Amino acid sequence: MSHTVAVVVASTPRPTLAIGKSLTNDMPWPRIQPEIAYFYRVTRRVPPTPPNSPFKYINAVIMGRKTWDSLPTQYKPLSGRINVVVSRAASSTTSTFGELWVSDIEEGVRVLKQKFPVPSEGSEGVGEEQALALHRIFIIGGSQIYKLAMEAPKTSEAYPTCILHTTMLSPDYASDEGVDVFFPPIDDDQWKKGGLDRLVEVTGEKPEKVGGVKEEGDVAFEFGIWERNH
Ligand SMILES: NC(=O)c1ccc[n+]([C@@H]2O[C@H](COP(=O)([O-])OP(=O)(O)OC[C@H]3O[C@@H](n4cnc5c(N)ncnc54)[C@H](OP(=O)(O)O)[C@@H]3O)[C@@H](O)[C@H]2O)c1
Repeated sequence: MSHTVAVVVASTPRPTLAIGKSLTNDMPWPRIQPEIAYFYRVTRRVPPTPPNSPFKYINAVIMGRKTWDSLPTQYKPLSGRINVVVSRAASSTTSTFGELWVSDIEEGVRVLKQKFPVPSEGSEGVGEEQALALHRIFIIGGSQIYKLAMEAPKTSEAYPTCILHTTMLSPDYASDEGVDVFFPPIDDDQWKKGGLDRLVEVTGEKPEKVGGVKEEGDVAFEFGIWERNH
């Protein structure tokens, strides 16, 4: 499953798919610890490499500049993952937290594959250090970057094959004041909802961690997966 591109999003149920508030560049819901922990585990999980291997796997997250801006300084860059930020001003932007700036998602994927290639068998590491080898790429928002990814043609390097979709079932955040940022429609002709078995297989999570409706305070939510029909 090397180099697969997956979208990760939390939203209100279909068809609304609300994901944010533009005025505050924030999510509609408060921090939901189990959901944050799920995102952390899933986006960092990589296959083990044998001891003394010259390389180790790492995942990458690709996000829009506004989502990058919304991260509190203490979480920049998102740890244990290569952070890639998409901006029209990429060429004139200096990296301050080790993040990579690119001017579109395809360029992001290309640069990642070029900078972090999976070494062929028996190859040497880079000097004393273990080389980093790209495993998976996660598109983590926001709305503009999700739209670009969802519209990417099959031939694109950034074509996503699955959506890891956390649904915020209640309260009804979509009706809250200021909630005006949305995920693009998930077209039933293109996507099919996978079961718990697929979610477990793709994420590496334990079934009891991701199955059924979860509750945290007054928030009810559910982890899920959509996969391409063809
Ligand atoms: N619920 C979730 O799972 C989730 C996840 C992430 C974010 N969010 C929410 O989503 C909101 C942010 O989303 P957003 O849509 O406003 O912003 P965004 O997608 O994070 O970033 C938008 C920025 O991306 C760059 N960009 C967009 N299209 C581009 C293109 N074609 N080529 C090059 N660069 C391009 C531009 O950067 P420049 O202006 O620098 O050129 C643009 O301002 C926030 O409310 C955030 O909390 C929710």
